Amino acid sequence: MDIIQKDSEILRLHDETHEDIVKMTGISKSFPGVLALDNVSFNLRKGEVLALLGENGAGKSTLMKVLSGIYPRDSGDIEISGLKQEDFTTGKAKELGIVIIHQELNMCSHLSAAENIFLGREIIKRGVVSQDEMNQKAFEILSMLNIDIDPETIVGDLAVSKQQMVEIAKALSANAKILIMDEPTSALTSKEIEDLFRIIIDLKSRGCGIVYISHRLEEISLIADRVTIMRDGKYIATMNYADTSLQEIISLMVGREITEKFPKISCPKGEKIFEVKHLNAGRMVRDVSFELYKGQILGIAGLMGAGRTETTRAVFGVDPKESGEIILEGKPVTIRKPYDAIRNGLVLVPEDRKKDGLCTKLTVRENIAMPSLDVISNFFGVVNRQKEKMIVEKSIKDLSIRLPHSEVEAMSLSGGNQQKVVVSKWLARNSRVVIFDEPTRGIDVAAKVEIYHLMNDLKRRGIGVVFVSSEMPEILGVSDRIIIMCDGRITGELMAFEATQSLILTYATMFESKLSRSDAS
Ligand SMILES: Nc1ncnc2c1ncn2[C@@H]1O[C@H](COP(=O)(O)OP(=O)(O)OP(=O)(O)O)[C@@H](O)[C@H]1O
Ligand SMILES: [Mg+2]
Repeated sequence: MDIIQKDSEILRLHDETHEDIVKMTGISKSFPGVLALDNVSFNLRKGEVLALLGENGAGKSTLMKVLSGIYPRDSGDIEISGLKQEDFTTGKAKELGIVIIHQELNMCSHLSAAENIFLGREIIKRGVVSQDEMNQKAFEILSMLNIDIDPETIVGDLAVSKQQMVEIAKALSANAKILIMDEPTSALTSKEIEDLFRIIIDLKSRGCGIVYISHRLEEISLIADRVTIMRDGKYIATMNYADTSLQEIISLMVGREITEKFPKISCPKGEKIFEVKHLNAGRMVRDVSFELYKGQILGIAGLMGAGRTETTRAVFGVDPKESGEIILEGKPVTIRKPYDAIRNGLVLVPEDRKKDGLCTKLTVRENIAMPSLDVISNFFGVVNRQKEKMIVEKSIKDLSIRLPHSEVEAMSLSGGNQQKVVVSKWLARNSRVVIFDEPTRGIDVAAKVEIYHLMNDLKRRGIGVVFVSSEMPEILGVSDRIIIMCDGRITGELMAFEATQSLILTYATMFESKLSRSDAS
């Protein structure tokens, strides 16, 4: 990342024009029961990266949807390149070169990568769509991005990180003047993030204005020229990045000081609660064995694509196992499908919330209560509304989920609050082992701490906690013991007190370095 840092320093020096390409003033927008934007002002300059920051539900995505014509504003003015916009639609926004990469992936999973990239702008030759030319053009864009994807691959077959790169390729092919990236890196590998940052720097030098939304504050330091902070639907402040500090940014976002980023409690190591022995499932789970003790959080570290998600899925019975044993509280259990796992008190909080975690069309109440239906309904399957209410209210309170009331559709919540619903719906059940797969992705600083508290709370109650994460500081800060995976195998195990980022990285790239060494020789 050093090179990027240097490049962006140079570009920061050159960027002294201060020409506003976007000026929004007094923007308000409400949804039933929520004032999402309350008199917000916002400006974006030519050739800059503006980081738009705020907690989950602060209104970032809504403001950017207003700027791309998706939501009409209730009041306020929008000026693009000095011209006031009255009827501002998505068509108008496109015409003006405004391109948005949405927070939630927006792909047609049954179409190919090339078809997605050119969706709505298909290349037509003699009246028919020219697949060849689209594939060729898509190949060029993907190669420019250093993305190793065959343009003809069906997007639904790609990993989330690759899908996100296709989404980025799609935005870049549209020749944006104003590019909005709403959490573009939440599912990317560090290599892909580096490629993306290079592209961002290139776009800046061509005068493109970029709005960058992310909860990964460490990224902001690498690319942001200015930051704008929102809280509770209101504009709070805008600063030059160079004139502020992470501490200041966080306290403006949250409205209070956050003292403890990684709260840790120490519990005595208890008995072995869970064990996976010689698990094999497909190419990405090879002879995986690990043990879990009461009073310990087990972190699973590794780079994206190391086989961690595949391991959790195989354990939970989502994907078939070829061989291996699963032992819960000393007894072997058979888990062929997720229902077997749930019945045995095993819980998986999955990585991809939109696909596996949440019924976006159902209400928050229904989502939270669903996995507990057997507990809260009687012999005849009739739900006890009182019990249901208690569970739902407790979940909303425990995780501070921000919503007008529990009858809203899960889809209407902000990204981070949706994630909290996924977590809470499983916690509402009495469980013995909980596996979290990237639970804090897209979640703001304060809510992350809430999730860590929650894991600590489970640990204190003697529930086994497995925690998969790609973010090193979090793995180091939260786990008691860490296992590291690379290419479908466990390559290392460390106690948290002896673990360091570089040690984990050594294990996480074990096969890669071996391969490149043998290549070199
Ligand atoms: N389509 C919608 N219908 C109803 N309410 C909505 C809708 N979209 C957003 N909201 C509400 O508006 C508020 C702002 O949400 P928004 O998605 O803009 O937050 P955000 O800052 O992007 O948060 P996150 O970091 O979690 O993505 C939230 O309270 C949310 O529940
Ligand atoms: Mg958002």
